[in-house]
Amino acid sequence: MAEQTRARAATMEKIVALAKRRGFVYPGSDIYGGLANTWDMGPLGAELKNNIKQLWWRTFVQRRRDMVGLDATILMHPRVWEASGHVVNFNDPLVDCKTCKSRFRADHLLEDKFGRDDAAALSPEEMSALLREANIACPHCGNRTLTDARQFNMMFRTTIGPVSETGTEVYLRPETAQGIFVQYKNIMQTSRVKLPFGVGQIGKSFRNEITPGNFIFRVLELEQMEIEYFIREAEWEQQFDGWRDAISAWVDMIGLDRDLVRIREHDAGELSHYSKRTVDFEYNFPGPMGWKELYGLAYRTDFDLRQHQETSGVDLTYFDQESRERFLPHVIEPTFGVERSFLTVLLNAYDEEATTDVNGKEDIRVVLHLAPRLAPMKAAILPLAKKPELTSVAWGLYETLQAELGLMIDYDETSNIGKRYRRQDEIGTPFCVTVDFDTLDDGAVTIRDRDSMDQVRVGRGEVSQWLREQINV
Ligand code: GAP
Repeated sequence: MAEQTRARAATMEKIVALAKRRGFVYPGSDIYGGLANTWDMGPLGAELKNNIKQLWWRTFVQRRRDMVGLDATILMHPRVWEASGHVVNFNDPLVDCKTCKSRFRADHLLEDKFGRDDAAALSPEEMSALLREANIACPHCGNRTLTDARQFNMMFRTTIGPVSETGTEVYLRPETAQGIFVQYKNIMQTSRVKLPFGVGQIGKSFRNEITPGNFIFRVLELEQMEIEYFIREAEWEQQFDGWRDAISAWVDMIGLDRDLVRIREHDAGELSHYSKRTVDFEYNFPGPMGWKELYGLAYRTDFDLRQHQETSGVDLTYFDQESRERFLPHVIEPTFGVERSFLTVLLNAYDEEATTDVNGKEDIRVVLHLAPRLAPMKAAILPLAKKPELTSVAWGLYETLQAELGLMIDYDETSNIGKRYRRQDEIGTPFCVTVDFDTLDDGAVTIRDRDSMDQVRVGRGEVSQWLREQINV
């Protein structure tokens, strides 16, 4: 993971404000007063999010011979979720306040009160007993009127067909993983894959979270990038370690600071119903959030394939040509949240630097040190002044770069050059290309580096090759 660490300038409030101001993330349904805990990606957010997903897909699917991809539906047969255990086990412990009607997760209340990070492993009865004993007040209204904890299933339900007649109740998938298990046999038969092999998928999942929040950290509608990696049982520890290293390499690739990421082992009580071993990659979020889950890595054994085999009655075994054995593969699952990647990339990239502006005045510049391959805009073309002789050259360069690079390039001729540099710094554009009056004589432009603010002169005809080498997409 990346070694270097900057002093942390980011707070969640600053990131939320920048995200709205610059068009990364807007509150959902904004003109109707918003719908709590829904967020829309604006023009720059859509680019950043797509860049994260594309990089993930290239890294884990396209550039690996042992991986293939899948794009399964959100709505699946309801028996999938019986087989997977989600109908019975995908619960969070819910506590209501009888006075103000706020809702909380009992394990989170216990974590806050006692600093217990094993609270999630307790039964609702154990949690209720502790809550009663400590006589915890409602964090919202302060009254001591919290109910006991009860289990709440987090899957969203909907109906296919007219509700009053023969509608079928289905769930919006709470994880993308099950699409892979359900299509595992088709993939095996059509893709000539051999163990060990993996299937990667990116897609929406839905969770009726009791306490969503912290901006896009915990949302109801999320996107996951998941891998189910099918292996022989005997190799699970070695494969688990290999995937732990692969996730660490990804964390470096998206530019997160090494000392802001740690790996935490789940203890036995905390493990999901399907897992024999899980580690979380945690990020040290600013402010009271602190260390929270970024990604997960789980050894799911053959739990899912066995469950689907039993529930569907379809043989899901694998026939090993070499050993002439037939068995159910085991599974290692690396799982990545898109929103959490997006949020940590922004938090990690944000900086405020004391500097001087183009007139030599002291100034603070806000800058996103985004990895160039993730930056929404790869370069901005800026004519020094809004004069036809400069803007015509700048437009020509913009069109050439767009055609030759096929990347997002910005063009800006408004306000003074200093303000335009600041605007590009704030959205993380790695390079500003300025067309000035010298360009008309020598045919060269000035390219300014976002991080060092160093400037170099590059011939107009060489700009796209120069950018291609620097951006490394
Ligand atoms: N298939 C395994 C699985 O879904 P998980 O730990 O429940 O495991 C995987 O979720 C990842 O999805 C998490 O590590 C996190 O990055 C992301 N995630 C989970 N719930 C989320 C939520 N409500 N909002 C945003 N991201 C979430």
